[in-house]
Amino acid sequence: MSKVTVVGAGHVGEMTTYYLSEMDLAELVVIDIVEDMPQGKALDMYEGTPVRGSDTKVRGTNDWADIQGSDIVVVTAGLARKPGMSRDDLQKKNAEIIGDICTQIKERAPDAHVVMVTNPLDVMAYHAYKVTGFPANRVVGMAGVLDSTRFRSFIAMELNVSVLDVQAMVLGGHGDSMVPMVRHATVGGIPVTELIPKDRLEEIVQRTRMGGGEIVKLLKTGSAYYAPAASAAQMVDSILKNRRRILPCAAHLSGQYGMSDIYLGVPVILGANGVEEIIELDLTPEETEALKRSGEAVATQVKLL
Ligand code: LAC
Repeated sequence: MSKVTVVGAGHVGEMTTYYLSEMDLAELVVIDIVEDMPQGKALDMYEGTPVRGSDTKVRGTNDWADIQGSDIVVVTAGLARKPGMSRDDLQKKNAEIIGDICTQIKERAPDAHVVMVTNPLDVMAYHAYKVTGFPANRVVGMAGVLDSTRFRSFIAMELNVSVLDVQAMVLGGHGDSMVPMVRHATVGGIPVTELIPKDRLEEIVQRTRMGGGEIVKLLKTGSAYYAPAASAAQMVDSILKNRRRILPCAAHLSGQYGMSDIYLGVPVILGANGVEEIIELDLTPEETEALKRSGEAVATQVKLL
């Protein structure tokens, strides 16, 4: 049986654990520094499994020794955004937290894949790569799947069609400079550009860019967690089951898209070896420019680190 550890039992961590428990993929451990809280959440979740028809073991802990043998560690710990806060404001505080966590992962689960979820996402993924010293294929960041699922939802809402028929991806950093790929979005195989007028599409792109902030504004006391957790769970599934799904993820670039030694959202094949391959798209000059600008925004943050 595979083993997945979720670090952080806040909203994103608990929902990721919950989705994973419903997927019957692996034995689950959820760890947090708050005493008893992860134990309580995991026990509550486990007590629901007989009714839900899943026999996944879920266990909460405060002890790092329990992450030993993990195949994947999903890192969700850290502070979340409050209204008016940018993802970057979080950087300093979360860098310290992520540094400590990644030191534990390096020591206790040296063969694990790391799926980074904490913001600012691209910077924290890079930080995890540096602190663990793991090969780049085993450190990947979740953000592209989230931004893309938002983009897909908005397209489905606009056309009043099933979300299941909408395929779309968002590249670049997980910030306001992200790059929703209009040209590659399809609905039931039909290019979205044939279904939605250009100006309306531009509004949908803009809403996607601000998608995280829209939820923060509505919730008032925190940020999104259902869609982020669902996205992280999909990445875990693709790795554990070696599905080789093509998903936009924050991956380490070494020359692809003209950038090096940076984590940025690009389409990857995600399988048993983590990032099996980075897919290099033939981009238009405008798309290349937008991705470059997004990369520069991330590089600036990394320098602050
Ligand atoms: C979001 C935050 C969590 O996009 O980055 O919802």
